[in-house]
Amino acid sequence: MDRIVIRGGRPLSGRIPVGGAKNAALPLMAAGLLGDGPLVLENAPDLADVATMRALLVQLGLGVAHDRAARTLTLSGAATSLEAPYDIVRKMRASVLVLGPLLARFGEAKVSLPGGCAIGTRPVDLHLKAFEQMGATIDLEAGYIHAKAPAGGLRGARVIFPQVSVGATENLLMAAAIAQGTTEIVNAAREPEIGDLAMCLMRMGARIEGIGTDRLTVEGVARLGPARHPIVPDRIEAGTYACAAAITGGSVLLEGARLPDLGAVVRVLRDAGVDVAETHEGLKVTRLNGLHGTDVMTEPFPGFATDMQAQFMALMCVAEGASMITETIFENRFMHVPELMRMGARIKYHGQSAIVRGVPKLSGAPVMATDLRASVSLVLAGLAAQGETIVNRVYHLDRGYESIERKLSAVGADIERVAG
Ligand code: UD1
Repeated sequence: MDRIVIRGGRPLSGRIPVGGAKNAALPLMAAGLLGDGPLVLENAPDLADVATMRALLVQLGLGVAHDRAARTLTLSGAATSLEAPYDIVRKMRASVLVLGPLLARFGEAKVSLPGGCAIGTRPVDLHLKAFEQMGATIDLEAGYIHAKAPAGGLRGARVIFPQVSVGATENLLMAAAIAQGTTEIVNAAREPEIGDLAMCLMRMGARIEGIGTDRLTVEGVARLGPARHPIVPDRIEAGTYACAAAITGGSVLLEGARLPDLGAVVRVLRDAGVDVAETHEGLKVTRLNGLHGTDVMTEPFPGFATDMQAQFMALMCVAEGASMITETIFENRFMHVPELMRMGARIKYHGQSAIVRGVPKLSGAPVMATDLRASVSLVLAGLAAQGETIVNRVYHLDRGYESIERKLSAVGADIERVAG
């Protein structure tokens, strides 16, 4: 299995191009099931999760062409199977996003229940209740969700989410686009990836109001047509490289990164002593002086993203003073803590909060993590640590970071991928 080997201590300097967002690409690909195609997605990232979604869509009968040179994904044809099998869903929870489109367009879908994952139990009850409110009947049988629309198709409904869910908002938004009548989504998630999905659906012919707010109104249309849509830049990739610049005391221009998409992350970085400047090419992130311990609590957008919690914790490991980091979205998202401690970090955690007491230096060590963002936090720690850090289980990184070792070595990091 591949490993990433880092010899830390070099300040990063230069430019890092930010790719298309993984968390936008996955629902956008699922939206390809809704229309009469083709749907061309531009700025497509080359990631393991995108390949997994592609394999699922191909299995469902869609044509999916990934032109890596042009960075486009072209989805065409219509589903010929309505079943998302366990083998694919267990690899990637976002597979459940095919449920809404299949149910709305074909009146039926069978999708394996995703089950738990490394960061928590992550149920899909909010998705299922929303479809029931649109008239669907849902049976859970042999580990599968079997959903059927009423005769005449899904009906618009007023769905009030008791809790903010990115995936449930996306699934419902896609289904509502071609349901009968009007759907109102109250307490909708407001992540930039949802706005991106809504924009793409509108390009396909959907009627959606309230984009960017927590109340979306969707007037169902009979059919959706072909469209071209550029995928929004990846705010989590940008935030991760912002932390890389900060942790090494460097200065990096994040090409294509957009300030409003980063929500609270930029505010918190500035509080910690990092300079973030908006330029016409992206965001320039520089650390000239020391870092200060800064508290954060994860929240739905525009709050501080849970997907940035591990990276920010790595940064706080070398800040002056203490910081309290509270995770409110997922119940088990501190797996990076023991690994960071193996590198010399001083962290105590209890329940959903961790106290990080900064140390002057981390020291390199062999480490591994069980999820994507935890793994990348170890890469960040390795960039700042004295000596050699070996990050095992690189496949987690490949799910969400395209060519991470190439992007970081291009700005001066001593980092390489070692096969075997
Ligand atoms: C998406 C992102 C993931 C990010 C997360 C939160 C994608 C592909 N993944 O995941 O990177 O960390 O948003 O920003 O975009 N919940 C329920 N019932 C449900 C659905 C969710 O209880 O039916 C809970 C979850 O367990 C979690 C919280 O709601 O505690 C938020 O989850 P959700 O926003 O749905 O996350 P995902 O869409 O799975």
